[in-house]
Amino acid sequence: MNKSDSVFVAGHRGLVGSALVRRLQRDGFERLLLRTSAELDLRNQAAVEGFFNTERPAYVFLAAARVGGIHANNSYPADFIRDNLQIQTNVIDAAYRYGTQKLLFLGSSCIYPKHAPQPMSEDCLLTGPLEPTNEWYAIAKIAGLKMCQAYRRQYGFNAISVMPTNLYGPGDNFDLQSSHVLPALIRKFHEAKERGDATVQIWGTGTPRREFLHVDDLADACLYLMDRYEEEQLINVGWGKDVSIAELADIVANVVGFRGGLTFDCQKPDGTPRKLLDTSRVARLGWSPTIELRHGIQSTFEWFRSNLNETRGTSI
Ligand SMILES: NC(=O)c1ccc[n+]([C@@H]2O[C@H](COP(=O)([O-])OP(=O)(O)OC[C@H]3O[C@@H](n4cnc5c(N)ncnc54)[C@H](OP(=O)(O)O)[C@@H]3O)[C@@H](O)[C@H]2O)c1
Repeated sequence: MNKSDSVFVAGHRGLVGSALVRRLQRDGFERLLLRTSAELDLRNQAAVEGFFNTERPAYVFLAAARVGGIHANNSYPADFIRDNLQIQTNVIDAAYRYGTQKLLFLGSSCIYPKHAPQPMSEDCLLTGPLEPTNEWYAIAKIAGLKMCQAYRRQYGFNAISVMPTNLYGPGDNFDLQSSHVLPALIRKFHEAKERGDATVQIWGTGTPRREFLHVDDLADACLYLMDRYEEEQLINVGWGKDVSIAELADIVANVVGFRGGLTFDCQKPDGTPRKLLDTSRVARLGWSPTIELRHGIQSTFEWFRSNLNETRGTSI
């Protein structure tokens, strides 16, 4: 990519999209094409066509999606599969037909089978059943990456697919009902500290192991791959190491300054014992993450505190 190229960041207000915009702006890209979902509903094929016909973006980062936790996936399976299929089909097809030079599609580690061997390599795609709670979302994402592969094979369209691990960072969702574990812990410990609580209760036994990547590292990887990766095969991007939920809770408590104790609610489900991506392919291409978990949590907590009233799920 050259700094003078026009770049469409679809989903620029989201966790991933906003990190991409921060990074592109820092690098001096001046022709960023940004539309909110209210300005351009990517489910609407005619609107997407009109946008691509007028703007003709040279590069597209497809970070727009209907995203949610287990509860949302379970409650709205039709919305999840339809919206994601529509968004990605419209954008990938229009990008190809209106001359986009390259498109980067963002998937998720939930595309891999529920019982995939750990760490999960790109090769375990479609080797077993999915986690039933988010299969609607996962099936849509698999269709998206397959569409990128098919357009490359049939039309020679330069589309690549990146599968990130669990992400965190500025702009995350801190709503306790719908957030992921890391932002939920930041909020829980912060509120417990403010109230002067003696203990904080963590869901489950604390033993499951999970991987977390700072979203600024993901943005760095996306730019790196946009410039250097041209293959049909999807590519994992992760931190490469995992921590137990108990270890994670300790780090968050420490960063937030919560001095009380931790208890574990073992009645709550633990989920999969371990979820870690095999990141050896991206490492062989020369990319590795740089933001240590503790530092990343520290800066995310600072962002959370200074955006308390605007942050998703934090306003009273
Ligand atoms: N967060 C994670 O831990 C994680 C992990 C792995 C992969 N990913 C992947 O990264 C991508 C982005 O996730 P995220 O966490 O950044 O999501 P997010 O914070 O929920 O942001 C999603 C963005 O999509 C846009 N969007 C949704 N529906 C739209 C529509 N109909 N038309 C136009 N725009 C629409 C929203 O735009 P508005 O704000 O304008 O409404 C929003 O900015 C997803 O594909 C996800 O699978 C995320």
